[in-house]
Amino acid sequence: MTGLAARFFGSAVVYAVLGMTLGLVMGITKDHAQMPTHAHLLVIGWVSFALFGLFYHQFPLAAEGWLARAHFWLAQVSFAALIVGLFLIFGGQSGADPIAAVSSIGLLVSMILFGAIAWPIVMGQR
Ligand code: HEM
Ligand code: HEM
Repeated sequence: MTGLAARFFGSAVVYAVLGMTLGLVMGITKDHAQMPTHAHLLVIGWVSFALFGLFYHQFPLAAEGWLARAHFWLAQVSFAALIVGLFLIFGGQSGADPIAAVSSIGLLVSMILFGAIAWPIVMGQR
């Protein structure tokens, strides 16, 4: 695995470790307030980003060009901001709502970019 594929997969492993650590802290302290932060760290950060890594590994041509780089950076920046926003919100700071709102839109746009990259491939046109 190299390039964008490796960077997506590598970041996913980091998010898995962070998410599981948060889950463990939740379990030990019996305070589950951060459950949505934990859930999204793992299902987006670990599962979805690992899938992106495997996809770009399987279809290396898809990882070339500005569209894939835009997907990578928009996904990473939006995801990091979403996790910070969720952590603050479920830590009781509702003032962080706009962070979660803007980052959610960024993450959605990054998924649409991925759709534009993946669609021709899954439809057998590339
Ligand atoms: C060290 C490993 C893990 C620990 C200690 C852990 C711990 C927890 C805890 C304490 C909760 C809260 C349960 C509740 O309040 O009902 C939870 C919820 C959740 N966890 Fe984990 N977890 C771990 C790994 C994972 C992994 C690997 C994933 C996904 C790939 C995951 C996904 C979720 C989801 C989606 C929820 C929310 C479930 C719901 O909506 O009811 N967790 N976890
Ligand atoms: C823009 C991206 C996303 C936003 C804004 C978002 C937002 C939300 C919200 C508001 C909830 C309810 C939380 C609560 O009841 O306290 C939720 C729950 C959940 N979401 Fe997402 N979500 C996003 C992406 C995803 C993705 C991509 C997945 C799966 C790959 C996912 C899996 C889940 C799961 C398993 C739950 C239930 C666990 C929980 O209650 O924390 N979400 N999400």
